[in-house]
Amino acid sequence: LKHFLTIDGLDRALLTEILDRSEGFLGVAQQAVKKVPLCRGKIVANLFFENSTRTRTTFELAAKRLSADVLNLNISTSATAKGETLLDTLRNLEAMHVDMFVVRHADSGAAHFIASHAAPHVSVINAGDGRHSHPTQGMLDMFTIRRHKGGFDGLTVAIVGDVLHSRVARSQILALNTLGVREVRVIAPRTLVPTRAEEALGVRVFHDLREGVRDADVIILLRLQRERMDGGFLPSEHEYFYLFGLTEKRLRGAKPDAIVMHPGPINRGVEMDSQVADGARSVILEQVSNGLAVRMAVMSMCIGTQNLGAGPSGQPLP
Ligand code: CP
Repeated sequence: LKHFLTIDGLDRALLTEILDRSEGFLGVAQQAVKKVPLCRGKIVANLFFENSTRTRTTFELAAKRLSADVLNLNISTSATAKGETLLDTLRNLEAMHVDMFVVRHADSGAAHFIASHAAPHVSVINAGDGRHSHPTQGMLDMFTIRRHKGGFDGLTVAIVGDVLHSRVARSQILALNTLGVREVRVIAPRTLVPTRAEEALGVRVFHDLREGVRDADVIILLRLQRERMDGGFLPSEHEYFYLFGLTEKRLRGAKPDAIVMHPGPINRGVEMDSQVADGARSVILEQVSNGLAVRMAVMSMCIGTQNLGAGPSGQPLP
């Protein structure tokens, strides 16, 4: 891998390789092994132009566990706030011999733009761009599903909520279809589903939560992404929870061993109630832990100096 910007166009073999390598990093992510030297001497710069808790911190931890040096640029206190252009910021960081930019930006395409203007030796990972793509989130979700379900064949995955504004949903849908699940369902109010979603995304659309979660193996909830809504119809939080919020009672319509996922941040009492968020079927915090292993795998595939490979069953690396 040179860059990791989107899941679009990646084949099943590559996605599976990322998942297999992530298994090999679980021991490091869980601190059974403290560090590996795969990125020793490399410099990773986190450029987050949008807020983040999980993604920024797990990228930082992942880079440190790979023995890289990490720069966290605080955009609000950087020279960007004095009018420096994005490209000038990049050139200055490249002058410090940065090897990788991890980029989050409100504009769709920002990570591609940076990748196309970065120096030839620099890798770029997209940590979320507008509504477009959040590929490491998509892969950590696939990793979590595979660990619980053993694979993807025959699975029905229901994605509930604001798909229209969700880069996470786009990455998940691409990955799920590439990895060969039986069916991807989207469950949302009409106003929060992209036009022609069935053909364009390869999903089955439902506007009724009970119908949509019936016999599902995996239920993924999404937050209402108000920061990306531009004046269209927006249900009140109360109304949304009444129609689309996941409760224990509604969860009973899914398979008995169904898992409940959410990329975070959760809005309790809006997309789900706390009993579900903290209940036995919830794997939400496991998704966060898995994010560390998956981000180590992707970073090492882009800028790792050795290829240690990875065992298929999560054994720690040497
Ligand atoms: N899932 C996710 O992207 O969370 P953050 O916004 O906290 O990074």
